[in-house]
Amino acid sequence: MTAAPTNDPRRPRARGEELAVLKLLALAGADHTPVVWTSRELGERIGMSQQAADRYLVALEKQGLVSRALAQRRQRLLLTPKAMSVLRTEFHGYRRIFEGAARISFSGEVTSGLGEGRYYLTQPGYVVQFSERLGYTPYPGTLNVRVGPAALRKIELVREWSGIRIDGFTASGRTFGGATCYAARMNGHACHLIVPDRSHYKDVVEFVASDCLREALPVKDRDSVEIDVEES
Ligand code: CDP
Repeated sequence: MTAAPTNDPRRPRARGEELAVLKLLALAGADHTPVVWTSRELGERIGMSQQAADRYLVALEKQGLVSRALAQRRQRLLLTPKAMSVLRTEFHGYRRIFEGAARISFSGEVTSGLGEGRYYLTQPGYVVQFSERLGYTPYPGTLNVRVGPAALRKIELVREWSGIRIDGFTASGRTFGGATCYAARMNGHACHLIVPDRSHYKDVVEFVASDCLREALPVKDRDSVEIDVEES
């Protein structure tokens, strides 16, 4: 079964010309210090008319990507963190093109959670998506692995990768959050790292697999595991 990698839909997307404006502003340092330009100056730098440059700035401000303060005939332009996130996604696309799929490796310790994984992983709204997008019906639960700060920093990078989206949904008046999955190996065994959109745990990461990892590896609480995660 093929899984279509999709990026987190909550992340804003800018169109081509808008991206070019964001890139130009970032190169001018507007991620940390406002640049003070007229629309004409911006237009000249990027090869578009003053009117077009102005239209793009208005559109970017509306999307919360650029903050603008008018200073006489000039504008103080500052990129928002949301704009930097758009550019970072762009950067990862290029990194992927030129350097191939990214991968990280880290180790951690198997741990038990609150038994919530089984409840979530048996919700039909999730099961259907897992079967279609991961290509298997997951064992009902998530295996939790506690990791140190160095591993957490690596795992933070994964959020920028293209992954396999599991969408949130509502069932019986309850809201179930979305998540993104990434192909992984735990001690060489195929599984997926699952990163919920909203997660309570800071130092625990979760894995889903078609089989019971505790039996297949086999592992028990406090055992150390080696994990490789690869961009889809
Ligand atoms: O939250 P908690 O760790 O208590 O468990 P769970 O997510 O409800 O999963 C039930 C049990 O199955 C736990 O012991 C998990 O570690 C384990 N499990 C596993 O061994 N392999 C999987 N693919 C998923 C869960």
